Amino acid sequence: MPATVIVGAQWGDEGKGKIVDLLAQDSDLVCRYQGGPNAGHTIVVGEETYKIRAVPSGIIRGKPSAIGAGCVIDPAVLFAELDDLEARGHRTAGLVFVSGNAHLIMPWHVALDGARERKLGNLQIGTTRRGIGPAYADKATRIGIRVQDVLDPKILRAKIELAIAEKNVWLERVYGLEPFDPAEVVATYEGYAVRLRPYVADTSLLVDRALREGKRVLFEGAQGTLLDLDHGTYPFVTSSSPIAAGAAVSFGIGPNRIDEVLGVSKAYVTRVGEGPFPSEIEGPAQERVRELGGEFGTVTGRERRCGWLDLVALRYAVRLNGMTSLALTKLDVLSTFAELPVCVRYRLPDGSETEEFPAHQSDFHHCRPVFETLQGWEEELEGPALPEAALGYVRFVGGALGVPVTLVGTGQARDAVLALS
Ligand code: IMP
Ligand code: MG
Repeated sequence: MPATVIVGAQWGDEGKGKIVDLLAQDSDLVCRYQGGPNAGHTIVVGEETYKIRAVPSGIIRGKPSAIGAGCVIDPAVLFAELDDLEARGHRTAGLVFVSGNAHLIMPWHVALDGARERKLGNLQIGTTRRGIGPAYADKATRIGIRVQDVLDPKILRAKIELAIAEKNVWLERVYGLEPFDPAEVVATYEGYAVRLRPYVADTSLLVDRALREGKRVLFEGAQGTLLDLDHGTYPFVTSSSPIAAGAAVSFGIGPNRIDEVLGVSKAYVTRVGEGPFPSEIEGPAQERVRELGGEFGTVTGRERRCGWLDLVALRYAVRLNGMTSLALTKLDVLSTFAELPVCVRYRLPDGSETEEFPAHQSDFHHCRPVFETLQGWEEELEGPALPEAALGYVRFVGGALGVPVTLVGTGQARDAVLALS
């Protein structure tokens, strides 16, 4: 697996951090390709819990870790994370590489994200309010500020003044908020420059060289397939490209350099924020899954909505990502259920049924899940082999998707992962 992408196959929070942590052991470089501090990858190492938001999870294994051009960076969050890692004994200097082309989250992005959500009221997207959408929007409008801009005080000042002139009008007139003082923002970001400078690197060249030398490169996605800006459940999506192809775009390598795509899915589904969710559990079982799975957001602490496994959505994720294998995480969360519904088809408003993800939003918004009920195993997942019924559940998923399930998560601990052959 010279170049492998690890991609979220659902709406994020699939447990990618843990899988990256596992595969990072045999990797030479770990690359985060999109998103920003909206992500929160949780890794449990013995008594220590790491909640990583900006730096690729590979850093916990002491692996060189790169942040690609497709990411957005909130310097304050990044530095706090680097400080925390250093304080816990993880070296970051010379190991963390940040693309000069990555965009910075500015204070007005955070202010605008929150203000827009408040204004949308019950039409809100339910964002993490970390400034993600506004930062990517400015990147696309070409008034964004990039990592490399902070390295040149003249460029930095000019870009901040240009952006702020426009943002302050929005903040004051549209949302009735306080304007930002350009001089203050310039001073803050000039301060960041000192810390950022040693980490800035040409991450495209870095990856290209690593691959030419036959090194193993792991690309780590954040969020998930159904939150993809182009192919997800728009507008209830994030503003970047979590799908596997996003790795090539972000790191500036050809798509033919990617060898393997490992999708990560929970044994059930969760979703944070608003938007349609066909297999969402009705009744008290939802609460039960949430409690058993600890389904509360890493970044925002919000309750995650919980659903039964949705094979229609997963089949879509197989297609969009070119998935070559699947990791099924948190299987242990289902251990106390006698019966496990799995969504195998959607029933569309016209009464027809389909195994394929609807291309039209109205079909998706109004479809109903068709469940097949599998037998539970009702025992804990301990030891090197899965109980018969648990294996049956895993095989059912792999068979329905036509993708081998190669890893199964059986508990919180770092080593609670079974490799299946
Ligand atoms: P944003 O990425 O903060 O703009 O939020 C857009 C949508 O993506 C919202 O529904 C968020 O709940 C969701 N989202 C963003 N990041 C994550 C994540 O790491 N896990 C799960 N959902 C996320
Ligand atoms: Mg998360």
